[in-house]
Amino acid sequence: MSTWVAPGRVNIIGEHTDYNDGFVLPVALPLVTRCTARLTADATARVASRQRPGEPVAVAIGELAEARERIPGWARYVLGVVGEFRTRGHAVPGIEIEVDGAVPIGAGLASSAALTCAVAQAMRDLCAPGLGVRELIDIAATAENEYAGAPTGILDQSAALLCTPGHALLLDVRRFTAVGAADNDGCQQIPFDLATSGLELLVLDTGEPHENAGGGYARRRAECVSAARELGVPALRDVTALGELGRIADPVLRRRARHVVTENARVLTIAESLCGGADPREIGPILVAGHTSLRDDFEVSTPASDDVVDAALAAGAYGARMVGGGFGGSVIALVDRGRSAAVALAAGQRLAAAGHPNPVTVTVIS
Ligand code: GLA
Repeated sequence: MSTWVAPGRVNIIGEHTDYNDGFVLPVALPLVTRCTARLTADATARVASRQRPGEPVAVAIGELAEARERIPGWARYVLGVVGEFRTRGHAVPGIEIEVDGAVPIGAGLASSAALTCAVAQAMRDLCAPGLGVRELIDIAATAENEYAGAPTGILDQSAALLCTPGHALLLDVRRFTAVGAADNDGCQQIPFDLATSGLELLVLDTGEPHENAGGGYARRRAECVSAARELGVPALRDVTALGELGRIADPVLRRRARHVVTENARVLTIAESLCGGADPREIGPILVAGHTSLRDDFEVSTPASDDVVDAALAAGAYGARMVGGGFGGSVIALVDRGRSAAVALAAGQRLAAAGHPNPVTVTVIS
């Protein structure tokens, strides 16, 4: 048995831009999912999860597609990857997999991509050596989209497989996914060394469960497609001047599009400033602008996330914003080293005062 590992992520900036062919800027979390696996000869896929003791699943390799409806949700992410390798012509004689995830589920920290990417790396090394990272990302995303039923983009899978320590990953999704692109086209490692700058990135999980397979995420995607169609462009990535948005008749669609256009600009501004050696504290106001846009234009924040952002800023954070798909999940806050505990306490107190039932769970990236 060997073990493969993939991390969760937070996105510094660039939310809901990936499926609009735009730009994202994630960093890996120090929290990972492990996949221990070996090939077997019995034409069966057996999966077990340390987090679901007593719920092992066994499916005949030839029946993976039909089995989808009768297996538990967590196992769909794993078996979706196994099935996708087969669909793409890689022989799988039989496989035994155990997963062990430390990325909190439903926190907007991409636990599902950590899971699919850990399994995808195992499958590559066991059944398809030499498979490139772009295809691996595509396999993990397809498993999540088609087998687990969550219509996500490729932000999370790319972060899980491409982020490197001390850097944020600037990904130009259109260039990276272009037909015939090389594995590193559209990828740039941007220096983001918090320790050298005396900073920490605090991840505050509000405890409000977030779900990409819920309807809100799919609706936002559809709204972006409608807005791009009305403007006559392939994707909202192609809009760079805000003035063009006046041609969208529906005010809701216009606001959705405005979020995407301004968010892409925020990604590029932050990447440029970090590349130019600026003090990362300077990106704080741009993070806050990103949150405001997600709250007011894209309408994917929640009162709890808004409260945590406000409390973090009031307690001295340089910037704070909700991360991930939204409708619950986590907030990031950029704080001076040593301030994380105080900021987290302030956020927890604000939520408790607002009658929020769950405590805030804290991860520190330093
Ligand atoms: C989820 C999806 C990603 C991305 C983000 C929002 O995490 O999995 O593909 O769309 O939401 O930026």
